[in-house]
Amino acid sequence: MISFICPVCGLPLEDRGSLYCCKNRHSFDKSKYGYVNLLLSNQSSKKHHGDDRLMVRARKDFLSKGYYGFLLSKLSELCRSYLTPNACILDAGCGECYYSCGILADNPGFDFAGIDISKDALEYAAKRGAEFPLAVAGVFDMPFADNSFGCVINCFSPNAEKEYARVLKSGGILLRVVPLEDHLFSLKAVIYDKPYLHEKPQNDIGLLKLSDYAEIRKTLIIEDKEDISNLFKMTPYYYKTGAEDQNKVLDISRLETEAAFGIFIYTKEKE
Ligand SMILES: C[S@@+](CC[C@H](N)C(=O)[O-])C[C@H]1O[C@@H](n2cnc3c(N)ncnc32)[C@H](O)[C@@H]1O
Ligand SMILES: [Zn+2]
Repeated sequence: MISFICPVCGLPLEDRGSLYCCKNRHSFDKSKYGYVNLLLSNQSSKKHHGDDRLMVRARKDFLSKGYYGFLLSKLSELCRSYLTPNACILDAGCGECYYSCGILADNPGFDFAGIDISKDALEYAAKRGAEFPLAVAGVFDMPFADNSFGCVINCFSPNAEKEYARVLKSGGILLRVVPLEDHLFSLKAVIYDKPYLHEKPQNDIGLLKLSDYAEIRKTLIIEDKEDISNLFKMTPYYYKTGAEDQNKVLDISRLETEAAFGIFIYTKEKE
């Protein structure tokens, strides 16, 4: 089982049931959902962090319908082929743990941990049934010792390259999932007169070696207004758009759009 380190002094945190405690007696209560908040107030002055409740709930509802099941299957297959059956995996910026819970269901030997800066996301992760250690923490300053994980999953979350490299064991892998240029293009075309393409994904991570790259895509046919609304609300476009333009999407009852993902596989080279 993966253990967190104390965000104050860096010593390992021991799991004492309702709280975590280090040898220096810094202690952190678990929430009623089971996750622990390891974000110190001096690490951020903001009251709310990461994705808010509306976005998190929309994503949870949309993902639960299986539209991105093809990405989950691909990640599960990659974990199986690259990792040992009992590998330690960190889901960094785990959201509601759709991917980590799904990978674990397929491969019950894996030892998972998840962090996200949004409490709302972790509440829904617990409700999804994530039973592995979960903490509110930022990916740029993670509560784990060096060389802890065989794999870090960075799925649409910020790219904290240095931290991912630090917590990976040598020979460990980073699975980085990014949207491809035409991802959800037809959704954008409903809102914008001149929809733009996503930026071309970059593959330059200096500290880790790019070992492999895969692209997967699927045309989504969504014939449920609520699912269309949830997909829209899990993207930034909903939040950047005024009510009139939002209604262009919220009023339609059928959407055919492409989902397209790039998966970079980086390796921490053996020293
Ligand atoms: C697009 S969501 C992806 C969630 C999940 N990986 C998935 O694919 O379903 C990005 C997640 O990163 C989290 N996040 C944003 N900034 C973060 C940071 N600095 N540290 C940790 N998590 C962060 C958000 O709260 C959100 O849950
Ligand atoms: Zn401590």
